[in-house]
Amino acid sequence: MARWVAVAAVEDCPPGEARELVAEGRIVALFNVAGQLHALDGICPHQGGPLGKGRLSGCVVTCPWHGWQFNVATGQHQTSLSLVHPRLEVRVEAGTVYVDMDGLE
Ligand code: FES
Repeated sequence: MARWVAVAAVEDCPPGEARELVAEGRIVALFNVAGQLHALDGICPHQGGPLGKGRLSGCVVTCPWHGWQFNVATGQHQTSLSLVHPRLEVRVEAGTVYVDMDGLE
């Protein structure tokens, strides 16, 4: 069962940018890739860096702490194929961005 939580207005995360958000006490990273929104667990699995404050290049975010890179659409780590970071489904309704918190269970 999906658990949709409102996290932002669409205009809060323009194309090419990332945002760190809090939903239900969890850190969520929101990314806008050419108008398509994606969300990941905002805590980097390396040492807890803020992925939502990382640099977004195409569909790849670079963690600001030590440079681990993830595909924001899939959660796939870019060099360690066995590492897939949790992702959340995203939907937009009436200008509000919702994420499915079940992605972090
Ligand atoms: S905490 Fe993200 S790369 Fe180290």
